[in-house]
Amino acid sequence: MKAYLCREYGPISSHKIETIDVPIPNDNDALIEVYAAGVAFPDVLVVQGLYQIKPEFPFSPGGEFTGVIREIGSKVKGWKEGDRVIGFKGSGGFAEYALCNQFNIMPLPDSMDFLTGSIFPLNYGTSIHAFKQRAELQPSENVLIMGAAGGLGISAIHVAKAMGARVIAAASETEKLELCKEAGADETILYSKDLSNSDDQKTFSRKIKELTNGNGVDVTFDPVGGHYAEPALRAMAWKGRYLVIGFTSSIPKIPLNLALLKGCQIVGVFWGSFCIREAMVNAQNFNALFEMHAKKLIQPKVEKIYSLDRTVEAIESLATRQARGKVAIQIKSE
Ligand SMILES: NC(=O)c1ccc[n+]([C@@H]2O[C@H](COP(=O)([O-])OP(=O)(O)OC[C@H]3O[C@@H](n4cnc5c(N)ncnc54)[C@H](OP(=O)(O)O)[C@@H]3O)[C@@H](O)[C@H]2O)c1
Repeated sequence: MKAYLCREYGPISSHKIETIDVPIPNDNDALIEVYAAGVAFPDVLVVQGLYQIKPEFPFSPGGEFTGVIREIGSKVKGWKEGDRVIGFKGSGGFAEYALCNQFNIMPLPDSMDFLTGSIFPLNYGTSIHAFKQRAELQPSENVLIMGAAGGLGISAIHVAKAMGARVIAAASETEKLELCKEAGADETILYSKDLSNSDDQKTFSRKIKELTNGNGVDVTFDPVGGHYAEPALRAMAWKGRYLVIGFTSSIPKIPLNLALLKGCQIVGVFWGSFCIREAMVNAQNFNALFEMHAKKLIQPKVEKIYSLDRTVEAIESLATRQARGKVAIQIKSE
């Protein structure tokens, strides 16, 4: 089979498409013929050794994918050859076949095709967990989403809107903000590509407050960090919840007195760990998400499709901040 393979850490372009043996499932694994895989920022990090999870070499990145089960291990229960499924695990999806533990598989709902399903678990699973369990988001609360035109950002817009919130989307390009509007954002804020300048930071805080009658936002969803975090925290409402999601820019240092002054919470969100520690709650979240999808309350969309041979380009589009919306790799057509 063909796979984009990481044999040792290095730049994204140092890893190549190779032909290797189809893997053999262990007792608890299913062998999935991969149709499509979502591309996400952890793929940028994991092949360079910069991610918190470090799969064994050699590995293919691609933590979310869809396909058809072709073989099952001796202890697999409830799954059979021919099942159409979504797989979610740290890696393995950028290949023609992937192994997946039986507990990291969900049925692909009838309402989804393979491409749609491949961009669903990581981003929608994270967004609903962030808003439901971590922020306890209430209808009509104001939510600020940063990096809002990224894969995770767009899913956060969908989920927050489906939960009845008013969404302010922030991003670095007008075209990205148009995408956020299409996804349902009520308001948008254009921030600069580099917010290191303190005047730009003040402008960002001021714009957030202007869009919330001077009160600030109830919930901030921050997958970006860097220089964007502090001005966003300065624009929190009283008793707000600041969701720490990721650091595509960099890991910021925050003056903790801001949490005191705002009476607000700074809340960590780690979906991968939540899936393991609270599997039942995660399953309930997905039931809710599949229902939202069937009712068209959330409409995941792949903005750009690449072939497996172009995996490097696909991952680099995220690393260089060029990607708009969600990117996926189509490995086999329906
Ligand atoms: N906590 C969790 O459980 C969890 C789960 C999934 C993902 N994540 C994290 O969430 C983050 C977003 O993932 P994603 O897949 O949505 O990524 P993505 O599609 O690449 O979007 C990330 C956005 O970050 C912004 N950004 C700001 N500075 C950047 C830089 N220097 N390089 C690249 N992008 C930059 C960009 O928007 P602008 O240009 O508009 O600023 C971009 O659209 C990642 O850090 C990922 O690891 C966390």
